[in-house]
Amino acid sequence: MKRIINAVLVLLLMLSLCACSDTDRENNTSSENNQNAEEAVTPEPEKNNASGSQITSDSTTDTQQTSQKDETSVLVVCFSATGNTMAIADMIAEILAADRFEIVPLEAYSKADLDYNSDCRANREQNDDSARPGFVGTIDSVEQYDVIFLGYPIWWGKLPKIMYTFLEQYNFSGKTIIPFCTSGSSGNKTSVKEIRSLLPDAKVNDGRRFASKTKKETIQKWLDELDLPEKEAGKEMIQIRCGEKTLSFVPLENASVTAFIEKLKEGDISIAMNDYGDFEKVGNLGFSLPQSDEQITTKPGDVILYQGTSVTIYYDENSWNFTRLGTIPGMTRKTMLDFFDGSGEVTVTFSLN
Ligand SMILES: Cc1cc2nc3c(=O)[nH]c(=O)nc-3n(C[C@H](O)[C@H](O)[C@H](O)COP(=O)(O)O)c2cc1C
Repeated sequence: MKRIINAVLVLLLMLSLCACSDTDRENNTSSENNQNAEEAVTPEPEKNNASGSQITSDSTTDTQQTSQKDETSVLVVCFSATGNTMAIADMIAEILAADRFEIVPLEAYSKADLDYNSDCRANREQNDDSARPGFVGTIDSVEQYDVIFLGYPIWWGKLPKIMYTFLEQYNFSGKTIIPFCTSGSSGNKTSVKEIRSLLPDAKVNDGRRFASKTKKETIQKWLDELDLPEKEAGKEMIQIRCGEKTLSFVPLENASVTAFIEKLKEGDISIAMNDYGDFEKVGNLGFSLPQSDEQITTKPGDVILYQGTSVTIYYDENSWNFTRLGTIPGMTRKTMLDFFDGSGEVTVTFSLN
């Protein structure tokens, strides 16, 4: 009886392997047609998970999934119709030991669907503002991630519409989003603009466009240069809440920060903050902290102690003698003002997480 069961299992395995390689072949050949006017795009020699599982880092064992999640707060999300972008996603996830989520279309894109010289499905979707192609699977909990790498191919200079479906489905407020893409030759500016308008409450990095077959060393160098807001082991993060929105930063090491953290250990601190000089929100703490002043030119996201008794959060530049408490990474004037819901008095709560 055991032998019969084994034989059936082997047969099932062989059948499923045949099914996989057919899909791979179809997806690989489809990129042969992706030669747009600007540059011929050759497929990756080996395609990774083009039609595979949804949460790829979790497709190993439960034990591995749990241990990895304890170590990282980075998620790599990727849609890739012919494998070029997925190869980059694989390298990012491997280098950062990050979790992965592949956006697998509900209906796979065939070679004909991607033949952009015809009235193909991809072209029709790109030309239809309301198109929201479905995808399979869900992310367990987006909340656990601080940094989300977002990968996609450029389609007609823009985000493939399936990325809209994905981005509209989750709440990415306060997250750092790092876009990456591959293309024949087009840049990523328009697509990053689209991401920013879809995720006004996220910190969307300028990201980067890669050629297909980019080497791992290039990816490694790019990652090294990114100022990732990783949770540093053993370091307290300070959270800043304004209404429903929360941002966080790793505090600097100075006497002022140490005293501020001691106060926060006693409980959250809420203060009323008002605009000043069209570059900051400022509010009185109601107590004083030691000053460690230096001449600083601020940038959006800087959290500063002013005269020992006030905290300022900057949305633009100012040069003065201040004590820096830390910087919320990746902020622009717009993302900071969006966080505060524009100008006017707000109540801001500082807490430890
Ligand atoms: C419908 C469609 C439109 C495309 N439009 C562009 C484009 O505007 N600019 C460009 O440089 N490449 C364009 N490409 C090429 C892809 O961006 C490129 O092949 C990419 O590496 C594919 O990534 P993937 O293998 O992850 O799907 C297009 C490809 C398709 C299928």
